[in-house]
Amino acid sequence: MASAGLAAAPMFRETAIGALFRANAVAGDRTPDELADDEAYWSEIQRAFDTDRTLINLNNGGVCPTPSHVLEAMIRDLRFSNEAPAEHMWRVLEPRIESVRRDLAREFGCDPEEMAITRGASEALENMIMGLDLKRGDEVLVTNQNYGRMLTAWQQRERREGIVVKSVSFRVPPPSMKYIAERIKEAVTPRTRVIEFPHITNLTGQIMPVREIVDFARPRNIEVLIDGAHAFGHFPMTRDELGVDYYGTSLHKWLLAPIGTGFLYVRKEKQKSLWPLMAAAPSQDNDIRKYEEIGTHPAANHNAISAALAFQRGIGIERKFARLRFLRDRWAKRLLAESPRVHVLTPFDAKQSGALALFNIDGLPYDKLGAWLMEKYRIVNTPIPHPEFNGIRITPNVYTTLDEIDTFADAVTKAIKKGIS
Ligand SMILES: Cc1ncc(COP(=O)(O)O)c(C=O)c1O
Repeated sequence: MASAGLAAAPMFRETAIGALFRANAVAGDRTPDELADDEAYWSEIQRAFDTDRTLINLNNGGVCPTPSHVLEAMIRDLRFSNEAPAEHMWRVLEPRIESVRRDLAREFGCDPEEMAITRGASEALENMIMGLDLKRGDEVLVTNQNYGRMLTAWQQRERREGIVVKSVSFRVPPPSMKYIAERIKEAVTPRTRVIEFPHITNLTGQIMPVREIVDFARPRNIEVLIDGAHAFGHFPMTRDELGVDYYGTSLHKWLLAPIGTGFLYVRKEKQKSLWPLMAAAPSQDNDIRKYEEIGTHPAANHNAISAALAFQRGIGIERKFARLRFLRDRWAKRLLAESPRVHVLTPFDAKQSGALALFNIDGLPYDKLGAWLMEKYRIVNTPIPHPEFNGIRITPNVYTTLDEIDTFADAVTKAIKKGIS
């Protein structure tokens, strides 16, 4: 039987640490860009995952696998919890959420008292969206490339309370980030109280001008809520670079933490006025933990976030971002060179995008092409319908091999030349 002491020991499977050590020995002092195409380094990282290689998983935008040793840490803690839940889970494991809070706060560059652990970005964002006091007629500004669930949440407030939701659209790919910022600023009126948008969209992978909008909104007393579901763990960032007061993210996407993890950041001064989604006592008004009042839940999932963060730090966010962009360029630039019928709706520059990119091909319906890639090649892809554009979203991850990227690009090249019927 596992003892409390055993469960307390930090878990970093020997092979996982070994993979990182070997990878770092291969890396030497090369820059992230120099390392981005080095298979000797990245194959060590790939080995940290038990992925199903009978599929080529190019949908890492929805949700990502966690490295095997992180999954094992979570399973170990689930077993330990189940031996005597009230004792092992509540008394031994749950208090360690404070270490997770501290680790995530250090990574994001905020105080631990500003960091709440959630079960994903939706929970973080719904705390923000439902938690702000708004009156009938107050305006909320969103874009029509916001995540669907967040739009649904605003629309529910619109139906229930008579707030007014206004939406802006922007071209894809946009001429510049400045253009997107201008589209948002132009739509602000004296009644605008809140602006909410994603840090990076799930549709084309466009990185949005967060800092510019925050700087514009603050003197106007407009709250800016950022949906960072795809951003944290994907590319380098800190709270101070973004200047945000509110930020929510998933951790089961780019941080590669177990499924059912996320965080909500709320600046200290803003906590009193942001109600939690589940009720808390007045004594908790200024306590970030009020956003964690969700009832009984597994401690194992959120505690394993720290192991995922340690793995991420072992690679380094700069290296990871450089590799993700290298993998994206490898297929996207090749397909663009293949035929003028190919369109990539994601800008290539590093300030505007990372792993996610959307493409379409004249004369090949995107949904049929997506189904063909899955049926013929077992390539998991994401058809994206939108009223103003559409295409297939392709999202590799650090465990994606060059062979997998090339098999995908070969298949699409075949489709371009010979069709899919
Ligand atoms: C932009 C964006 N926001 C929020 C979410 C929801 O995240 P979660 O499933 O972690 O709640 C997603 C999921 O894909 C997303 O793409």
